[in-house]
Amino acid sequence: MCGIVGYIGPRDATPLILGGLKRLEYRGYDSAGLAVIQNGEIQVRRDAGKLSRLETLVSASPLDGQVGIGHTRWATHGEPSARNAHPHLGLTGKVVVAHNGIVENFLELREELAAEGERFNSDTDSEVIVHLIEKYLATEGGLVEATRKALSHLKGAHGVVALCADEPDKIVAARLGNAGGVVIGIGDGEVFVASDLPAILEHTRRVAFLESRQMAVVTRTGVQIQTLEGAAVQLQIHGIAWDPVAAEKGEYRHFMEKEIHEQARALTDTIAGRVDFDNGGGVRLPELNLTPDLARRIQKIYIIACGTAAHAGMVGKALIERVARIPVEVDIASEFRYRDPIVSPGTVVLAISQSGETADTLAAMEEAHKKGAALWSIVNAIGSQAMRLADGCISMQCGPEIGVASTKAYTAPLVDLYMLAIHLADLRGVLDARTRRSLIADLRLIPDLAGQCLDRNAEVEKLARLLMNTRHCLYLGRGINMPTAYEGALKLKEISYIHAEGYPAGEMKHGPIALIDREMPVIVIAPRDPWYEKMFSQIEQARARGGVVIGLATDGDERVAAAANHVLWLPETPWMLSPVTAIIPLQLLAYHIAALRGLDVDQPRNLAKSVTVE
Ligand code: AGP
Repeated sequence: MCGIVGYIGPRDATPLILGGLKRLEYRGYDSAGLAVIQNGEIQVRRDAGKLSRLETLVSASPLDGQVGIGHTRWATHGEPSARNAHPHLGLTGKVVVAHNGIVENFLELREELAAEGERFNSDTDSEVIVHLIEKYLATEGGLVEATRKALSHLKGAHGVVALCADEPDKIVAARLGNAGGVVIGIGDGEVFVASDLPAILEHTRRVAFLESRQMAVVTRTGVQIQTLEGAAVQLQIHGIAWDPVAAEKGEYRHFMEKEIHEQARALTDTIAGRVDFDNGGGVRLPELNLTPDLARRIQKIYIIACGTAAHAGMVGKALIERVARIPVEVDIASEFRYRDPIVSPGTVVLAISQSGETADTLAAMEEAHKKGAALWSIVNAIGSQAMRLADGCISMQCGPEIGVASTKAYTAPLVDLYMLAIHLADLRGVLDARTRRSLIADLRLIPDLAGQCLDRNAEVEKLARLLMNTRHCLYLGRGINMPTAYEGALKLKEISYIHAEGYPAGEMKHGPIALIDREMPVIVIAPRDPWYEKMFSQIEQARARGGVVIGLATDGDERVAAAANHVLWLPETPWMLSPVTAIIPLQLLAYHIAALRGLDVDQPRNLAKSVTVE
């Protein structure tokens, strides 16, 4: 989704802003632009397409100034084109704005402004913001007050950054609701503004986050934060430990490939410091703020999430219900927020989100909060809104994920949920010592097991060559690995554009079996878990109808080897952790198929890394 980067300081703003926008490329975008105050005037360069086109434009017509803002746009209103790209310059040429979010009442505002004689240069909803600021500049006495007044007219959720040629010593940034974050990076005599941390981490680790309905007035020497109503807010600076090198591709062709291969390490980090493997075993999740009293009062957990995170939540349901004996419902966040869910005392809502900025998930959290639920989150992006809204949090320890298709931010929360299930069970007193010891001992194995799956990369690539031209693919799973089928199919469709369906295997006979013929590869997820026998009969049923069966089977499983056309082998894994190992060959398969088809693996068409609009 849209990314914003701003700079004010002694250095040349253009390369810093372009560099920051590059770091946000992973979010997905279809046009880009840049505005710099040069000799007292605002100069804008914008173009459709990738940042390289903007760079060409800037080298042909350079920008020279120490204050500027840049933007990568993911089109919502108006096609991706130079005229619709941000930043938007007002008609006086004095004010320029970059915006994330959707102005829900833009038609109304546009008509009002048009009736007052305003002309529009784009088809975007965002352009009304710059016109409103310009309109109020004369009456409100400066950029800060004019922006405040303009924002009071907007409906929806927004991140806004504005510059004024008459006040070249400041950038004004504001956040309303949850259309992505606004983060301020404080350097030495220079300050950065961005929608996301990776844009600025190479320059500073000292950052402040804007909450909803806050504005920041950013100058070379510092930042003042205030509410939209004008009350001063104490600046809270956080130190961020993420290593920007972790966000480089290194030896890999794509970020997705790198992130798949980082999973063994990410899982080690996920467990590190949280599990006591001695003394009978135990789990420590201090940031969750879970007391024995709260644990005992929990009647029900809703897990809310979107896409891959929701698939992780489905595995979490199986784990928490099985280990902690608490009923769990998994809700797609975009449904939960509008379905008037029943929240009674003892309800906990657990949001899962790698970005922590997904608009639907945040709105669902707010809905849950309004209804009085206790709020938890499992989040990767440190300092994100989903982390800050929650009463307690588990942070995924897997480092920045850049590829749009989520991989390590899928397996890390699976392990977080496994630890949560044990922790809850322990605090509620439903876990006997032997079971606890054995569940904890299994956890120690998981990074190595993930590593063993990664070592089989070459086998998966071979299969990818056979499947790369298929037009459809069916993924079947059951029990704790039913979500593995959903997630495997999602990975394939989002990066290779091959139609793929994940299905609960038991449902085949109720309709989808009609699809099976020689043209339909069927991936049957059949590790040695409690549903193994059922899955085995699925292989036979698919074969009997001419389907090409790819079995996902445990090492040494001769039955599957004999029955299936191809096998992807998995190391023997304790069944409650089997979704972690079972997904890895499916991630690799999707990756290799997309790479072999020559597709843009890290930034697939129409997709964005954080979906900050509804
Ligand atoms: C994952 O591969 C997808 N691109 C997508 O489904 C993603 O999981 C979903 O948008 C949720 O994102 P979040 O984890 O940032 O909330």
